[in-house]
Amino acid sequence: MSHSRITGVGHYVPERVVTNRDLERRMETTDAWIRERTGIQERRFFDPDQDTVATMGANAARLALQRAGLQTSDVDFIVFATLSSDYYFPGSGVLMQRELALPGIPALDVRMQCSGFIYALSVADQFVRSGMYRTVLVVGSEIQSTIMNISTEGRAMAVIFGDGAGAAVVQATEDAGHRILSTHLHADGRFAEELMQKEPGGSRVGRWMTREMVEAGGADPYMNGPAVFKHAVVRFPEVIYEALDANGYRSEDLDLLVPHQANLRINEHVRQKMGLPEEKVFNNIQKYGNTTAASIPIALSEAWEAGRVQAGNLICLAAFGSGFTWASALIRW
Ligand code: UT7
Repeated sequence: MSHSRITGVGHYVPERVVTNRDLERRMETTDAWIRERTGIQERRFFDPDQDTVATMGANAARLALQRAGLQTSDVDFIVFATLSSDYYFPGSGVLMQRELALPGIPALDVRMQCSGFIYALSVADQFVRSGMYRTVLVVGSEIQSTIMNISTEGRAMAVIFGDGAGAAVVQATEDAGHRILSTHLHADGRFAEELMQKEPGGSRVGRWMTREMVEAGGADPYMNGPAVFKHAVVRFPEVIYEALDANGYRSEDLDLLVPHQANLRINEHVRQKMGLPEEKVFNNIQKYGNTTAASIPIALSEAWEAGRVQAGNLICLAAFGSGFTWASALIRW
């Protein structure tokens, strides 16, 4: 059985920068509140004339392929993670496949929200190690600015989430020295309603969105922020230690932790709890806010560009989010 390795990473963010001050003009909030509670300074909002979840994913994927020294025609499987798919169905995986002109190549959609990229990476890893596919595109892409209620009513979430896309190329390798070591996935559906968007529809709701549902606020996403925070600060270290333990490593062996970017305070809490120095945790939430399934691949791509991901490094990815779901991946780069 072969191993799998990440051979290229890339990201794409829309050009339009929305600062905290811009949001101050649209709702009762302050730059100080947002920075203090989340660390976010600005985020990107998509351009409706230019960007879709699928095209943003394709842009990130093309860069990842280029950095891997590959052509789009080398791809034999796509795993696409998003909570903000272009259509309710079909998923965005097939739309990105069309965008990349890869007819016939299978495309699988993953709906695991903030943990989506690691779940998708795990799927790619299993398929590559089983020998079924050799070159897999793993993509996380989100347009959340259209889902948010950008007003005082929706401010608890609207100031946090942003748009963007990231991608990784996962390839088969015989080289055990540079590979994905393991992935660890978890979920606890007892907390499904703590971070959710009820509408539009869904079989549980039983019918499609009506004017009454919109007026009742059902179309707005809902988050019990403090509850999510409380679970996140426990699950993050737990799932990172799980990955380290599974491979016989300790936290001091880590070269870089790339956590999901939900809140700078969460990541700082995890860093301190694990006794990691600042330079061993990568954060870019200040610039992009929370881009859900895209946050880890965007951060990984930026960390790679900054030279903070070098061959031989021990890299850990970790996420927590809606579901609840949480996950980690340990990589010998
Ligand atoms: O990626 C998915 C996973 N998501 C997360 O990990 C998010 C986890 N949770 C969090 O990051 C934090 O809970 C938040 C950043 C969402 C909120 O921070 P918090 O310190 O938990 O604030 P809070 O929700 O307890 O709200 C505190 C106050 C409230 O006012 P009162 O009731 O104390 O008068 C809110 O109404 O802040 C108010 N508030 C705001 N004020 C200004 C809520 N949103 C805003 C806002 N601007 N945007």
